[in-house]
Amino acid sequence: MNSGMKKKKVVLAYSGGLDTSVCIPLLREHYGYDEVIAVTVDVGQPEEDIKEAKGRGEKLSESYREVDAKEEFVRDYIFTLIKANGNYEGYVLGTAIARPLIAKRVVEVAKEEKADAVAHGCTGKGNDQLRFDVVFRTTDLDVVAPMREMSLTREEERKYAEEHGISFETEKRWSIDENIWSRSIEGSELEDPSFFPPDEIFQWTVSPGKAPEDAEIIKIEFENGIPVSLNERKMDGVPLIKELNEVGGKHGVGRTDMIEDRVLGFKSREIYEHPAATILLVAHRDLEHLVLTRNELRFKEFVDRTWSELVYQGLLMDPLYESLNAFVDKTQERVSGTVYVKLEKGAARVVGRESANALYSKDVSFDSKLEQRSAEGFSMYHGFQSRIVR
Ligand code: ARG
Repeated sequence: MNSGMKKKKVVLAYSGGLDTSVCIPLLREHYGYDEVIAVTVDVGQPEEDIKEAKGRGEKLSESYREVDAKEEFVRDYIFTLIKANGNYEGYVLGTAIARPLIAKRVVEVAKEEKADAVAHGCTGKGNDQLRFDVVFRTTDLDVVAPMREMSLTREEERKYAEEHGISFETEKRWSIDENIWSRSIEGSELEDPSFFPPDEIFQWTVSPGKAPEDAEIIKIEFENGIPVSLNERKMDGVPLIKELNEVGGKHGVGRTDMIEDRVLGFKSREIYEHPAATILLVAHRDLEHLVLTRNELRFKEFVDRTWSELVYQGLLMDPLYESLNAFVDKTQERVSGTVYVKLEKGAARVVGRESANALYSKDVSFDSKLEQRSAEGFSMYHGFQSRIVR
């Protein structure tokens, strides 16, 4: 442990929650830092959370900073994810894709402030420690993770918080991580994989059973793999995703309850809400099927999966990540067009698509005058090897 003898500064990735709040006095009292700079990186958390973090951060730390990274998050991370159909075992990677950016912004502050160390509040059980550490360790700053190093029990942590005037209006039952792309809910009874999630944990989505009877069809336009307009209104990424979260959530779209394989190998039970992600990923993949060749699609599936695994592991600085993105970007040069998605009782289904780059030809369709007999020769040798084996 690096208990400091001389005056030292540490920059903490601060969410405003219990764990990171407890980290502030711990960094002073236990680690001997003289100055704790708490940084909240805004990647689209609820405004109340940001406000609360500011209030608590200003009170507890020597200096508090709020960094708005919403636009960068959508432009350089979420759009990249959409192009690569980002999905890990059914998880839309919301938390995973945000961590490297949060860590990067914290490091920037640390450099400006000429700090000695950077810190995060992750425990030693999850993926997030890996995602922060890997970015923090690209610098020569000390890396401190009080929650992981001290492994306080919930009881000890609450007591310590109370002694340091850290209080929350309502007892937080669940551990929630939220940004513009997804909301993750874990902990407490949810850790039992057989426990049914109570409806109260959902905030972005209505229960599909309570969604309106009337379906709604939305129109999304993509340019080079990126969504650029919604219902014929040109929109920037941040408002577009916000609006899709609203409209999708209203129809109960985008709930996931799953067992996930963490990087460390543990299985965990995870619950997510992500209406916009569901809609955009379904629409984007569908458009790719219209404009990319069969060979491109097959190969890209593997690229997308590898991309998603890298992101899940927080390994955005593996050179492979850049190489995969170069391939993905090349394919997206033709992924422009319009997709119609029907939202109905928890489902988001594509009901129509069109593109100037479609590889679809009416000449060979059901009703066309395709010269069918010319397929005879092709068919003659179809399955040839299997016939020999029999
Ligand atoms: N399981 C997800 C991941 O590893 C989400 C973790 C969310 N963290 C939280 N504190 N709720 O990316």
